[in-house]
Amino acid sequence: MNKKVYIGMSADLIHPGHMNIIKEAIKLGEITIGLLTDKAIASYKRLPYMTYEQRKAVVENIKGVSKVVPQETLDYRPNLEKLKPDYVVHGDDWREGVQAKTRQQVIDTLAKWGGKLVEVEYTKGISSTQLNNSLKEIGTTPDIRRARLRRLIKSKPIVRVMEVHNALSGLIVENIKSNNIEYDAMWSSSLTDSTSKGKPDIEAVDVSARINTINEIFEVTTKPMIYDADTGGIAEHFVFTVRTLERTGVSAVIIEDKTGLKKNSLFGNEVLQTQDSIENFCNKIKIGKRAQITDDFMIISRIESLILEKGMEDAITRAKAYIQAGSDGIMIHSRKKSPDEILEFCDILRKYDKKIPIVAVPTSYNQITAKELGEAGVNIVIYANHMLRAAYPGMIKVAESILKNDRSYEVEKELLPIEEILDLIPGTK
Ligand code: SPV
Ligand code: MG
Repeated sequence: MNKKVYIGMSADLIHPGHMNIIKEAIKLGEITIGLLTDKAIASYKRLPYMTYEQRKAVVENIKGVSKVVPQETLDYRPNLEKLKPDYVVHGDDWREGVQAKTRQQVIDTLAKWGGKLVEVEYTKGISSTQLNNSLKEIGTTPDIRRARLRRLIKSKPIVRVMEVHNALSGLIVENIKSNNIEYDAMWSSSLTDSTSKGKPDIEAVDVSARINTINEIFEVTTKPMIYDADTGGIAEHFVFTVRTLERTGVSAVIIEDKTGLKKNSLFGNEVLQTQDSIENFCNKIKIGKRAQITDDFMIISRIESLILEKGMEDAITRAKAYIQAGSDGIMIHSRKKSPDEILEFCDILRKYDKKIPIVAVPTSYNQITAKELGEAGVNIVIYANHMLRAAYPGMIKVAESILKNDRSYEVEKELLPIEEILDLIPGTK
């Protein structure tokens, strides 16, 4: 009888290394590919460019592949137990590093029925990491960028979003990594876009100016963006904002349920802020949803009840009404130092709706981690103003020091070295 051979792969960017593994595997028997799902891949690295269905369409047409099954976890064991293959074939590049444990589990599991791990020499000169970097240089399209947010929400326990207000902050969010974690998306904040233009956060910077900022950011990045549209303006104007954002490749717009001259939420009741009626706001959501063209774009409703001290019940009543009106997600805001009211809100809303994406903005309650928010039922965490707040004190310090010392010598050590700024942006040399 033909032997059963199992290969686990992501197959996002197929290259000769994959072909070599398949070529070796076919000599051993009939090949089943365990194609990692978006969720399985996102658990240890960035979301693949292609969806599961697209990757499947490629892999099942490769010569020598008999069958493609989903592998739902990075862990091979559930599929191995089910299929009991005679062989697993893998590149020999997983003996060390993050995958070493997975490898050992594969060996131990196969041993139960006398199966064997066969390792193929790693193909040099080509890797997914290199291809990824090249893809980033090529860029992305509005369609691909727009659709990525929904995929991220589906595949990740928590989607991490960082504020950007210009192309340079966008580049940082695009590339920065720590502990193998990166930001999934960008937040275009009304507060920081206005502030960096020297204007108050009262919807004084119009949509055209905001879109200009976004276009500059999009020119040099590939990650998806969530747009802070303040109140969204009057419903008749909001439809144009939706169309413009969607066309540009923005993935989601968040509108807050306030009316009149908008003031930043972090003031709470220190300034006069009025909340919209449920009926009016639901109408705005409905009109916005009708205006969008793609299925990918999201309209997320932001509830200001806790900010305005209207109570939990009001917040929940509104959440339910906004979901009924067609909202694609709920952002709940708070300016408390403790996350308790946000956690309570998530708890109650999750009992009503298991799936609706919940967005939290932990500016004031900053001790809770993204992971903890995810465990509490939050899908998206937004660090709403942190890049600008990081930049400003640095600029003040340097500007002051040069005046004080009448030269830049003293402050030089605080600055990005000239050699590094010349190397920062590819193509400068
Ligand atoms: C923004 O970033 O502009 C926001 C969030 O709307 S907050 O400033 O907290 O209201
Ligand atoms: Mg704002």
